[in-house]
Amino acid sequence: MDQVIISGKQRLEGKVTIGGAKNAALPILASTLLGGGDCVVANLPQVRDVVTMVKLLHLLGVSEKTEGSCVTLNAAHINGTEAPYDLVKTMRASVLVLGPLLARFGEATVSLPGGCAIGTRPVNLHLKGLITLGADVFVEHGYIRAKASGLKGGRIELDFPTVTGTENLLMAACLATGTTVLHNAAKEPEIVDLADFLILRGAKIFGAGTDTITIEGVKELHGAEYAVTPDRVEAGTYLMAGAVTQGDVFVEQCIPGHLSAVLNKLQESGATVVEEKYGIRLTAQNRLKPVEIKTLVYPGFPTDLQAQMMALMSVADGTSVISETIFEGRFLHVPELHRMGAAIEVDGHHAVIQGKPSLTGAPVMASDLRASAGLILAGLAAEGKTTVSRVYHLDRGYERLEEKLQGLGANIQRISEPS
Ligand code: UD1
Repeated sequence: MDQVIISGKQRLEGKVTIGGAKNAALPILASTLLGGGDCVVANLPQVRDVVTMVKLLHLLGVSEKTEGSCVTLNAAHINGTEAPYDLVKTMRASVLVLGPLLARFGEATVSLPGGCAIGTRPVNLHLKGLITLGADVFVEHGYIRAKASGLKGGRIELDFPTVTGTENLLMAACLATGTTVLHNAAKEPEIVDLADFLILRGAKIFGAGTDTITIEGVKELHGAEYAVTPDRVEAGTYLMAGAVTQGDVFVEQCIPGHLSAVLNKLQESGATVVEEKYGIRLTAQNRLKPVEIKTLVYPGFPTDLQAQMMALMSVADGTSVISETIFEGRFLHVPELHRMGAAIEVDGHHAVIQGKPSLTGAPVMASDLRASAGLILAGLAAEGKTTVSRVYHLDRGYERLEEKLQGLGANIQRISEPS
């Protein structure tokens, strides 16, 4: 297993280029199951979750040709409708094949994703929605088994605007007969990206990006070429890396409008943020000021940037409060930040952070994807050496992270963990 070693206190300066959004790529790749034509998906981030999704599609019989950050997939002939436990346990988003398989082939068997480090994360709303579209769904031996002899459009009211739930139902509804209306749908940019890809392939979707999405079912979807939208979480992470080192970074090839809530908070904390057409420049001269953050569904502050923001607030000049409202257990990075000298108290879903002038480097352990990024940021701000182990979490969602940070002047390297 690899470790990342950081010698902190280097001011980051320069330009970093953002890749495609993992959370848009995953549903887009899964949706290639909805038709038989060639789907060419470009600007794919080279991260492990994308590799896992392509592996799953390959296992289902989808033909695949990968060239760099572009993959051509064709689901004209598939040889199975089962997503096995061994793959789903490594990536919960494998559940995204459920809607497309059921809609096109009338059946799907998908291992039920278990709990994960950040919470119980059920998929009950995905299943409830599919039942509304006429599917028979039951769970046995750890698997979701869904069947339908043709899905029928319907009115679905989501109890919570779940992101992958909205995506699963949106994909399923594309091939259902009649009209489906999804109320209280998620509004994340990744939903819009998926809808744009599906529309290009002949789907009839109206209102993606709002809380009501209407889908008129069509008989089939054809192939298309598409480039995945930039990763707003990766972009936010590098902006915060700039801020935590009181640096000057230009984050290029990202969409500032996707990060409004984050940019507002960075500005409120005293950083200078300039939005340009193809990127964002952040400059921080002094210690940042403390801020209050509440994670919310889009367009609110994203939970996927909460751990990174906490690292930032650990060295702010005053006391900040972060409330996590999306996931029940997403403070696993706190005990690791304590090891680096951070003063953080957690009470339920609130964390009170008393900023310190500096953190001290320490050996720490990553618990989940975004927590790993938070620890890396803390390491960049700390005196001395920080060793982050279990970085396989990081590799699920960040491409070439050390290389990109080195390009900004960070003293960071990856080594194989001594046994
Ligand atoms: C997606 C993102 C993840 C992000 C999260 C919230 C992908 C691949 N992952 O995860 O990076 O952190 O959105 O922005 O896009 N819930 C239920 N029942 C359900 C579904 C969800 O109770 O059927 C609850 C969850 O337990 C959680 C909340 O809803 O508390 C939000 O989850 P959801 O939006 O579904 O997150 P994901 O789609 O899993």
